[in-house]
Amino acid sequence: MNASVDVLIIGAGAAGLSLALQVAPFAKVAVVSKGELSAGSTRWAQGGIAAVLSVGDTVESHIEDTLIAGDGLCDPEAVRFVVERGPAAIKKLIALGVQFTPDEEDNDGLGYHLTQEGGHSVRRVIHVADATGQAVQQVLELRARAEPNITILEHHMALDVITSRHIMDKADGAERTHGAYLFNLKTGRVTVHAAKAVVLATGGASRVYLYSSNPDGSTGDGIAIAARAGCRIANMEFNQFHPTCLYHPKAKNFLISEALRGEGAILTLPDGERFMPQFDPRAELAPRDVVARAIDHEMKRLGLDHVMLDISHRDADFITSYFPTIHRRCLDFGIDITQGPIPVVPAAHYTCGGVMVDLKGRTDLDGLYCIGEASHTGLHGANRMASNSLLECLVLGQAAGEDIVERLKDIPEPARARNWDESRVTDSDEEIVVTHNWAELRRFMWNYVGIVRTNKRLERAEHRIALLRQEIADYYSNFRVTSDLLELRNLVDVADLIVRSAQMRTESRGLHYTTDYPDKRALAENTIVTI
Ligand code: FAD
Ligand code: SIN
Repeated sequence: MNASVDVLIIGAGAAGLSLALQVAPFAKVAVVSKGELSAGSTRWAQGGIAAVLSVGDTVESHIEDTLIAGDGLCDPEAVRFVVERGPAAIKKLIALGVQFTPDEEDNDGLGYHLTQEGGHSVRRVIHVADATGQAVQQVLELRARAEPNITILEHHMALDVITSRHIMDKADGAERTHGAYLFNLKTGRVTVHAAKAVVLATGGASRVYLYSSNPDGSTGDGIAIAARAGCRIANMEFNQFHPTCLYHPKAKNFLISEALRGEGAILTLPDGERFMPQFDPRAELAPRDVVARAIDHEMKRLGLDHVMLDISHRDADFITSYFPTIHRRCLDFGIDITQGPIPVVPAAHYTCGGVMVDLKGRTDLDGLYCIGEASHTGLHGANRMASNSLLECLVLGQAAGEDIVERLKDIPEPARARNWDESRVTDSDEEIVVTHNWAELRRFMWNYVGIVRTNKRLERAEHRIALLRQEIADYYSNFRVTSDLLELRNLVDVADLIVRSAQMRTESRGLHYTTDYPDKRALAENTIVTI
C-alpha cells in the first residue's frame, strides 16, 4: 500500500536513528531498513567513538590528528564542525542510556576508560568494551521503537528516490524529491512512499570487495540511489582497508579491533619478526592506510596468506575484560588470544567518499539528505581516522535533523508519483546470473582496485564493469526485482564510481596508492563524479 510521512529515513544505523530521534518530536517519520533494524555496520563497531573528553586532550589536537590522517584532503571546516560537537554527542548518548566502559583508576576524572587507536596522538576513544556499536545500536533502537511518531519499516528496501521524472503532473515546479520507491522483501511488492524530505543513511559500500569486514548489506545503495538522482559523488577512490581482520577459513568477516594495537598488540610475520617499525616511526599506531599497505607489502614479498597480531604479552585478565567479544570469537576458531598471536589480513572496511553534502547533510537534490558513511562531508579526506565515523553519524544526524525540522513547514506536500510498473516483467528463471555477476564483480574489484592500483588494472576493471552494467540493465528491465538484483545493480554503479574516481586521481594519496603515480600532487583536490 502506498504511504506518506513527513520524513522518510532510509537506514537504521547510528546516523539514521540519531536523525529520527531528533526529528520525531516535530514530525511524522518512517525509518526503513532492508533487513532487521540492527543489520547495518553500526552494530558491528568495536573500537569506540573518538571525542575530546579528557583533560589532557584538546579540540585542536583532535582536529590536527584528523587532518594528518586525511593526508591533505580533509575539509578543515567540516573537521572542526564535527570535532567541536563530539563531547556533546557523547553526553547525549550517555543520557539516552549507553553505558560506556568505566575507568577503574579514573585517571583524568572523566569516569570512563578511553582507549587509543591509530592516528590519535592521545587516548580519546570512548567505548563499551569491544562491542561499542552493539551498545549504541541497542539504545538508539529502543528509543526509536518507543517514539509514537516513528514508524519502523524493516525488510523494506529503497530502490530509488522519487524525482520529477516519476510524478504524475509534470508541471510540478522545481526539481526535488517527493519520496522513494520501497521494495517489500516479504511480499515482493514495490510501493510509493511519499515524503517531504528523504534521508539516505544507508551506510557504506565495502561489500563491493571480495574480502570485507562489513555486514552483507554494505552495498552502497544510498550512494547509487543519489547518483542516479543526479547528485554529485566525491572521493570514491578512498576505500579504507582495515589492516586486521581475522584470517580463518570459517570466519567470514570478523574484525580484530585497532584498539588491540592501541593497547600494545604488535604485528609480526608468521616467524614472530616485528615489521611495522621499518615502515613508519608510529609503527602499529600509524594511520590505517600505512599499516594496511605495509601488511600487503610483506604478504606479497613473502607470498604469505596472512600476518600475525599478538597481544598475548598483556595480562590475560586485562585482555578478557577489555576485549571479551574478540576473545570469545577467536576461541570459537580455536585461537586463544591470551596465549598466542592471531592470524590477520586486511579487508575492505570503510567508504571514505560518498554523496556530496554540506554540514546540514543536504545533497544536490532539494529535499534529499545524506548522512553517515554514505555521505561525503569532507571530514575524512583521503583516509578516515579510527573511530571518527560513529562520531560523524551522531553529529550529522543531529545537524541534518535540526535543518529538516526548521525547513519542514516551508516544503510543499509531495507530488503524486506514478505507481511502480510491473506489467511487463516476469520472474527470472536464471537467478544464477545475478550470483555469478556478483562474485565476478567482487573478485575483480579486489584484484584490480584494491590496496595497490595501476592504470592497467583500473582499465581492466572499467571494461568488466561496462559489460556487467549492460547485462544488469537488461535483466533489470525484463525481470521482477529481487533484493539480490537491486544490490548488484547498486554495487555495479558504485564500482563504476570508484574506478572512475581512481582513474582521475593521477597521484598517490592516503588510501589511493598507484604504482603509475607514486607521488603526491602539490594541489589536493576532491574527485567529483556523476552517473
Ligand atoms: P549503517 O550502520 O551501516 O546502517 C545502514 C542502514 O541502512 C541499515 O539499517 C541498512 O539496513 C540500511 N540500508 C542500506 N541500504 C538500504 C536500502 N536500499 N533500503 C533500506 N535500507 C537500507 N566506526 C567507528 O567510529 N568506531 C568503531 O569502532 C568502528 N568499528 C567498526 C567495526 C566494523 C566491523 C565495521 C564494519 C565498521 C566499524 N566502524 C567503526 C564504522 C562504523 O561502524 C560505520 O561507519 C557506521 O556504523 C555507519 O553507520 P551508518 O548509520 O552510516 O550506516
Ligand atoms: C576498530 O575497532 O578497529 C574499528 C574502528 C573504526 O573503524 O573506526
